[in-house]
Amino acid sequence: MNIAVFASGRGSNFQSILKACIDGFIPARVVVLISNRGDAGAQHIAHEANIPFVHLSPLRFESDEAYAQHLLSVLKEKETDCIALAGYLKKIPPLVVREFRHRIVNIHPALLPLFGGEGMYGHHVHEAVLASGMKVSGATVHFVDEEYDRGPILLQRCVPVERGDTPETLAARVLAVEHVIYPLALKALAEGRVVFDGTKAWIRE
Ligand code: GRF
Repeated sequence: MNIAVFASGRGSNFQSILKACIDGFIPARVVVLISNRGDAGAQHIAHEANIPFVHLSPLRFESDEAYAQHLLSVLKEKETDCIALAGYLKKIPPLVVREFRHRIVNIHPALLPLFGGEGMYGHHVHEAVLASGMKVSGATVHFVDEEYDRGPILLQRCVPVERGDTPETLAARVLAVEHVIYPLALKALAEGRVVFDGTKAWIRE
């Protein structure tokens, strides 16, 4: 399975996916890193590992259609089977979602369908969890469809919310499980163990 990773920032999930592929835990390879930013931390990780990096800013295209077509041509050229969004802050164009239906996954730093949707990223998520008084949070790997954070859930793992937590301490606890469940979900996808019951996705043992 050829994976295209999309990342806008630091790239710690990209790194955990890359390591899992290189170690053979995920029977797949990362064929390209795509970012809307030319200065993403993830870019340095790609450079060190000799992974092609493509900087693609939607703003540089004259239309959404032109951007989507260009994105598709890059993905096809790299023979992409699956797209892993890892801290990617731009919406995936509907054309690409249609072309890669059930082949685009994302990781979200909370237990969806709670604390998701437009504007729910980074510290906003953890602030909302703390404000809610919930005693658990966690991470979710889900398929991407046309709506933010709404596609079928593939894998989740909980972490406790502790008294005295700040958005930073909670984010760090969640991030540690992100680095575990994202490779697990991609492994299942690469091994053909993801099944759909209607609109629900499950992982077979
Ligand atoms: C992670 O918390 C992920 O859940 C969210 O964006 C963050 C990306 O972090 N989608 P990193 O760039 O992978 O370190």
